[in-house]
Amino acid sequence: MGDADTPAWTYDTLKAWDHAHLWHPFSPMQLWLADDPVVIVRGEGNEVIDSEGHRYLDGVSSLWCNVHGHNREELNEAITAQLHQIAHSTLLGLTNVPAIVLAERLTSLAPVGLSRVFYSDAGATAVEAALKMALQFWQLSGQPRKTRLASLVGAYHGDTLGAVGVGYTETFHRFYRPVLPDCVRLTPPHVWQWQDRLSEAEALDRSVAEARDTLAREQETLAALIIEPVMQGAAGMWPQPPGYVAALREITSAVDVLLIGDEVATGFGRTGTMFACEQDRVTPDLLCLAKGITGGYLPLAATLATDRVHDAFLGEAHEGRTFFHGHTYTGNPLACAAALASLAIFEADDTLRRLAPKVDQLERQLAEEVAPLAHVADVRQRGVMVGIELAADASARRSYPARDRIGARVTVEARARGVIIRPLGDVVVLMPPLSVREDELDRLVTVVREAIVAVTEP
Ligand SMILES: Cc1ncc(COP(=O)(O)O)c(C=O)c1O
Repeated sequence: MGDADTPAWTYDTLKAWDHAHLWHPFSPMQLWLADDPVVIVRGEGNEVIDSEGHRYLDGVSSLWCNVHGHNREELNEAITAQLHQIAHSTLLGLTNVPAIVLAERLTSLAPVGLSRVFYSDAGATAVEAALKMALQFWQLSGQPRKTRLASLVGAYHGDTLGAVGVGYTETFHRFYRPVLPDCVRLTPPHVWQWQDRLSEAEALDRSVAEARDTLAREQETLAALIIEPVMQGAAGMWPQPPGYVAALREITSAVDVLLIGDEVATGFGRTGTMFACEQDRVTPDLLCLAKGITGGYLPLAATLATDRVHDAFLGEAHEGRTFFHGHTYTGNPLACAAALASLAIFEADDTLRRLAPKVDQLERQLAEEVAPLAHVADVRQRGVMVGIELAADASARRSYPARDRIGARVTVEARARGVIIRPLGDVVVLMPPLSVREDELDRLVTVVREAIVAVTEP
């Protein structure tokens, strides 16, 4: 390991320092410390390469964000060119070229009506900004009782406290429950978890009816409903039938509750269209973007707003209608330059059109090779977002005991076969970059099948 520019630390040194000093996110640290870490040193195309030269297919897009592959020349060049201009300058009281141009590009690509871009640097901060905008919007609009938020059961919108408040995953969030604001929950039309043995159409009807009743009942105190459109990701890959997002748009408009679309995971092609909202022809009042916005290269997020929301904040400075919110790296020029280069690749490569047959291939191969396995209970897919639900007894829908860590063990088996994936409990998640090749999809499905068999049918 190491070249002319980087010191050649040995694997053992890196392992010792990692174990002594790093605290890894979402990681049971006791287990981590008992294991040999994979130290990633390079990326190439849709693969990451470790310190020992092993190559792995990046089956979860480096946490759902890589879009066009690693080490893309165009992205490297755009970042380098911007680096020679300026790495960072603030958007507080100043502006900069990449931030301006990207705002123009994003508003022209996003669902019609989203005309304003507020930058931050992570999915959670995009969500925080949207929630605070929604709350302040109603205070500024003469409706001071609208101070509560609504979301979908099992939602995940990030790890800052505001985002945790509208999310709720027992495993992740139970320690913070006492300080979280009360949130109205709607049951999503997810058949496996919530709408047991209903057809998709029946689940849709039931969830829409519940949303209509609940939002009508709570409307006077509700500021906004936040949803992940089309696919609830970190909840466990829960897809929504077509029409659900449109129904929620119609209901929220009717009862004057803002609709926030969290497309941190689903945005930038992940569900097959540039934004998932497009599939139901919906414009939310606020749209949260992050992860894939820079092609997965640099931290950047954006909260897009309609004129209606933005204009409520207009007024003389002394009136105090300003959105008093911001982050040091808001509108970072390097990250915005990467985002512009990523959007240019979408056009140059015709990424979305070329993705469609790959989505079909993935669906076909999962149906043929993975769905029939004895312990695969459900395979869910939207675009290149996939959740494979494993169960001790698939037909009786009996889960494995949590202590068996079945999902985690499948990912370890996959890694030994050269594919990086991550589980959500016993749901094995696949989310390859949009640039994944047909032969790589083949490899992904074959390895995942082998890994599931190795763990569940030893
Ligand atoms: C839907 C959704 N919203 C928000 C977030 C938080 O994003 P970040 O990890 O960049 O803060 C995530 C992360 O997985 C997400 O999936």
